Amino acid sequence: METQTQTTVDRHRRIILFPLPYQGHVNPMLQLANLLYSKGFNITIFHTNFNKPKTSNYPHFTFKFILDNDPHDERYCNLPLHGMGAFSRVLLFNQFGADELRHQLELELSKKDEPSVSCLITDALWHFAQPVAVSLNLPRLVLRTSSLFCFLVYASLPLLNDRGYLDHSNDITTPLLDGLGYQHLSDNNHLEEQVMEFPMLKVKDIIKMGFKKANDVVGDVIGNMVKRTKASSGIIWNSFKGLEEPELETVVREISAPSFLIPFPKHFTASSSSLHEQDRTFFPWLDQQPPKSVVYVSFGSVSQLNEKHFLEMVHGLVDSKQSFLWVVRPGFVDGSTWLEALPDGLMGERGRIVKWAPQQEVLAHKAIGAFWTHSGWNSTFESVCEGVPMICSPFWGDQPLNARYTSDVLKVGVYLENGWKREEITNAIRRVMVDEEIRERVKILKQKLDVSLIKGGSSYESVQSLVAYISSL
Ligand code: UDX
Repeated sequence: METQTQTTVDRHRRIILFPLPYQGHVNPMLQLANLLYSKGFNITIFHTNFNKPKTSNYPHFTFKFILDNDPHDERYCNLPLHGMGAFSRVLLFNQFGADELRHQLELELSKKDEPSVSCLITDALWHFAQPVAVSLNLPRLVLRTSSLFCFLVYASLPLLNDRGYLDHSNDITTPLLDGLGYQHLSDNNHLEEQVMEFPMLKVKDIIKMGFKKANDVVGDVIGNMVKRTKASSGIIWNSFKGLEEPELETVVREISAPSFLIPFPKHFTASSSSLHEQDRTFFPWLDQQPPKSVVYVSFGSVSQLNEKHFLEMVHGLVDSKQSFLWVVRPGFVDGSTWLEALPDGLMGERGRIVKWAPQQEVLAHKAIGAFWTHSGWNSTFESVCEGVPMICSPFWGDQPLNARYTSDVLKVGVYLENGWKREEITNAIRRVMVDEEIRERVKILKQKLDVSLIKGGSSYESVQSLVAYISSL
C-alpha cells in the first residue's frame, strides 16, 4: 500500500462529506476523507446515527449526526436495522431529508471561526442533496461507490425497459433474498441472449439486478441518482482508468461534470471504518498455509442466503478440498443467528469460519489464492488491487454487472451464473486455483494499477486534479 505523505498546510478549506450509512458506502467515503485530509483539507463528516462509524478512529475529523436524531419521529423510528429493509432509509431520507440537510449546511456555512466550506461531497444515492446544495450555492460533488460500467447500465434502464429487457422482472419474487430466481431464469433461453446495447451482458444479467418493470421505488431512486449525478459539480469513482477505459470514454463524452478515478484501497485500508468487530485470531493459521493455497470467502455486508443454498456452499467448498477462510456474518443464513445450519464435523480442519475479517489485509496475504465473492464493487476492486482472482456469486443490484465484467470483460474470475450447485462450486474453485491465464491477467491488472499510482500515471494525476479542482471552487 502506498503511504500518503501528509502535507503540512494551514487547513483553511473545509469539505463536508456525507456517506450513505452502509459498509460498502461508508468505506470508500472515509477513505476519500482520509485522502483529502492528507492533502491539507479540513474534514467534516455528516452521518446518520444509524450505522455510525467509530469516531475515535478519526480524531482529526469533525462528525455531525443528522436526519435521525429524533427518536419520536414516526417516519424513522422502527425502521429495520438489518437485511434489505435497512435500505428503506435511503428512500425515506431522500424523500424527507432536504429541510434538515439544508438547515445543517446553513449552520456550517455560517460558522465564522471555522475554515470556509469548499464543497459538499455526498454518496451518489443521496440524490436529494443536489437541489439542496444548488439552493445554497454550494458545489456538490458525488462519490459513486460502484463501477463506471454499472452507472452506464443504470443510466440506460429507461431504454432497457422500453426495449422489453425488464419484461420478466415482475415474475421473480425473491431474487433479493437468496438468488432463487437464478434457477427460474436458467429455464428460459431468451434470457441467455446478448443485450444489444451492452454486448457483454446477457438478458438475465439485467433481470438479476432485481428492478421491477413498473412502479418501482428503487428504480425511482436509481433514476434520480443518475440525473442528479450528471447535474453535480464532479464525480469521484473508486476505480482506475486501466480497468474501465471504454466506459470512462463514454462517461467523459456524455457527462459534462468532471470525473476523477481514484483507487481508494491503494491509498488507505477500510479497516478503521469497519462497522463490525474484526476477528484477527485466524492470522497465525493463515501465516502457516502455503502461498496461494487458501480460498477467501466473503459475501459483503448485506447479502443473505437461504439454508438450502448455504448447504450447497458448504458442500461445494468441502468437496473442493481447498483450504478456506470463510466470513459468515451473523444473520447471513436466513432464519439463523449464525452457524446453526452447519452440519457437525463436516468442515474438518481445512477451513476457518469467522464473523467478520479485515478483508483487505486478508486479500493481501500471500496464502490467499482466490476470492469467492458476491461481487460487491468494493470487494471486486479490493481483489483487483491485491491481484487475487475471483469466483463470482452475485445477488442483486450492481453485483450481477460486476460479476459479468469480472468474468467476461476483465477475464479475472469465474462466474457461477447458475446459482448454488455444489458440483459447479467445486469445479469453479478448483479451476480458479489452478488457471494460470486468469492468475496472469489479474497480476497484470494489479501491475497496471500500481504503475498508474506513480507520478505521471493516471491515478496519481486524478488525485492531483481532484485536489486542484476542489481548491478552485
Ligand atoms: C453494497 C453492495 O452490495 C455493493 O454491490 C455496492 O457496490 C456497495 O454497497 P456490500 O454488499 O457490503 O456493499 O459489498 P462491498 O461493496 O463488497 O463492500 C463490503 C465492504 O466490507 C468491503 O470494503 C470489504 O472490505 C468490507 N468487509 C467485508 C470487511 O471489511 N470484512 C469482511 O469480513 C467483509
